[in-house]
Amino acid sequence: MIDMSIAKPLVKLEFRELKTGDERVVIDLYNSLSNESIYYRFRGFFKDFDRYVKSVFSDPRNIVYGAFIGKELVGVLEAVYLSDGCYEMAIVVKDNYQGRGIGTRLVAYAINDLKKRGAKTLIAHTTPDNYRILAISRKFKGIIKCMYDECTSIFNLQAISVDQFLN
Ligand SMILES: CC(C)(COP(=O)(O)OP(=O)(O)OC[C@H]1O[C@@H](n2cnc3c(N)ncnc32)[C@H](O)[C@@H]1OP(=O)(O)O)[C@@H](O)C(=O)NCCC(=O)NCCS
Repeated sequence: MIDMSIAKPLVKLEFRELKTGDERVVIDLYNSLSNESIYYRFRGFFKDFDRYVKSVFSDPRNIVYGAFIGKELVGVLEAVYLSDGCYEMAIVVKDNYQGRGIGTRLVAYAINDLKKRGAKTLIAHTTPDNYRILAISRKFKGIIKCMYDECTSIFNLQAISVDQFLN
């Protein structure tokens, strides 16, 4: 069904940390993506999602968050451990669910949880034409530096409040 309304529909979203047992549904989500989403997510046409997802889950220092509507996994955010207190974020929302605020709320959920764990810095790499993730970066007061074909957003976690974006 095509939603023609201008207002973003309210959806009941639930969030939780994903564990090794969730690997399959995460791989399925990646396999369902359009080429455009894959391009923006991986900044290229990356396809071996099986290996990628398994490698993310294989390091217990990485933290993976999922957004669910009912039982359906609709968004995944990986916080990949870089050094103590510092993580790199990568996020994707299923194609049919993009542009409805789910990405914003998933980032808020992840930042809130990372802060509780004492994390200090989160960074994200994007292409300069990725308006959605750049809009989200600005919402969370990220410092955005763009050079040639790459933008880097840096979030000082302890300095940002995500309360207004949580439920
Ligand atoms: C990036 C992504 C995760 C964002 O999730 P989402 O649920 O679609 O995003 P949201 O609906 O929460 O927010 C998108 C924001 O971008 C803004 N936006 C969308 N298109 C825009 C444009 N052309 N110019 C400026 N802003 C734009 C929207 O206005 C919205 O902000 P608002 O809520 O203040 O109106 C999702 O679109 C996605 O999975 N894209 C493909 C993968 C990807 O790009 N991952 C990020 C790189 S790691």
